[in-house]
Amino acid sequence: MKQIKIQGGYTLSGSIAISGMKNAAVALIPASILCDEEVTISNVPNISDKHALIDIIKLLNGQVNDQDSVLTINTSNILNQTIKEELASKLRASYYFMGALLGRKKHVEIYFPGGCNIGNRKIDFHLKGFQLLGATVEEKDDKYIIHAEELKGTTIRLDFASVGATINLMLAAVKAKGQTIIENAAKEPEIINVADFLNNMGAKITGAGTNTITITGVEYLHKATIQVLPDRIEAGTYLILGSLIGKELKITNIVRKHLDALLTKLTSAGVEMDILENEITIHGHQDLKAINVKTLVYPGFVTDWGQPMSVLLTQCHGTSIFEETIYENRMGHVPYLNKMGANMKVKNQTIEIQGPTPLKGQDVVASDLRAGASLVIAGLISEGSTTIQDAEHILRGYERIVEKLTNVGAKLELIDIN
Ligand code: EPU
Repeated sequence: MKQIKIQGGYTLSGSIAISGMKNAAVALIPASILCDEEVTISNVPNISDKHALIDIIKLLNGQVNDQDSVLTINTSNILNQTIKEELASKLRASYYFMGALLGRKKHVEIYFPGGCNIGNRKIDFHLKGFQLLGATVEEKDDKYIIHAEELKGTTIRLDFASVGATINLMLAAVKAKGQTIIENAAKEPEIINVADFLNNMGAKITGAGTNTITITGVEYLHKATIQVLPDRIEAGTYLILGSLIGKELKITNIVRKHLDALLTKLTSAGVEMDILENEITIHGHQDLKAINVKTLVYPGFVTDWGQPMSVLLTQCHGTSIFEETIYENRMGHVPYLNKMGANMKVKNQTIEIQGPTPLKGQDVVASDLRAGASLVIAGLISEGSTTIQDAEHILRGYERIVEKLTNVGAKLELIDIN
């Protein structure tokens, strides 16, 4: 068990460099097993999800060299083992081994994926897509058994533009016979990152980043490299924090267009920033104004920014309305923010936030990854000290968070309480 202890009330200045994107890295690592030769993935964030995925690659007899932020993976002698419950349930992204192994070996046995408890998180679109490609899917004792004699390209229309389903079906289709078309595909940057990686191996994918992706199957995938794109969720978290207590705080290594939906909201709340293509300097703010925020698929306001953003809304003058539209249960942070002094009322998927309310340090619990990030922000802007229990959730998605924040003047420490 881990705790983060925070002493609030310090202004943050200096520079925070953004790491590689978690939600791309967690797909690129499983994607590497489609390659018949060696791959190199650079700018990989050192987060606990990375280690969990490497353990699965090793279970499948893959060779992994993990040096600094560069992973070299060779799965040319891959063995198709059952992905054990204790590995699959560590994270959501273990489900990408379904598409990747199905593509490479036409057979997968994997226990149910884990991940943050933020809603129903069904994977029916993934499974239905595999079936349309010609696979059978059996669910037995918390395990999926997916098998195909042959995968055949087809047209798959997603009921919802799911990030996970789009990537998983791309992975399965890359070595299928003929052409697969994914309609109503998700358009998030991580999908482009994965398609680029597969194309670098010799795959034939067009349309990634639009709502129609076309994949023409190939038989062999060769040696390739890819760089993980910067993490727009990590960048967004630090931009929100900097908007509250930053003074000449620079956020570097970003892709500005991935952040547009957030930057528009921060600007309309009154945050003063200089925005360049790959770095943003936050000067500070006058009185913050109440705003309304609704989460949407890309290029809309990302659901993963929602919990951090709700902390900013507690400091805005007036009533802000925050609406979560992607997950049913992303409100685990609210009772703790109220305990710290916020005035937030939840009604179904909406939070009404009355501000500004000063926050006071408290003992709180990270119920999930982004709830944890929101409590880090809350602790840093509070008077007094905050202890966040179950902080391991936060380490699943934020590389060296304590070090990065300490370098810009925050007072916090990570404590092992085993
Ligand atoms: N959905 C279904 N059926 C499916 C797939 C999705 O009903 O087969 C529903 C989900 O229940 C959810 C919605 O569709 O309500 C969106 O799900 P999506 O598939 O887009 O998300 P995901 O693949 O489960 C990834 C990230 C999430 C991020 C979302 C949206 C990973 C491992 N997870 O989840 O990241 O919020 O895309 O961008 O990449 C996080 O980083 O904290 C996180 C939760």
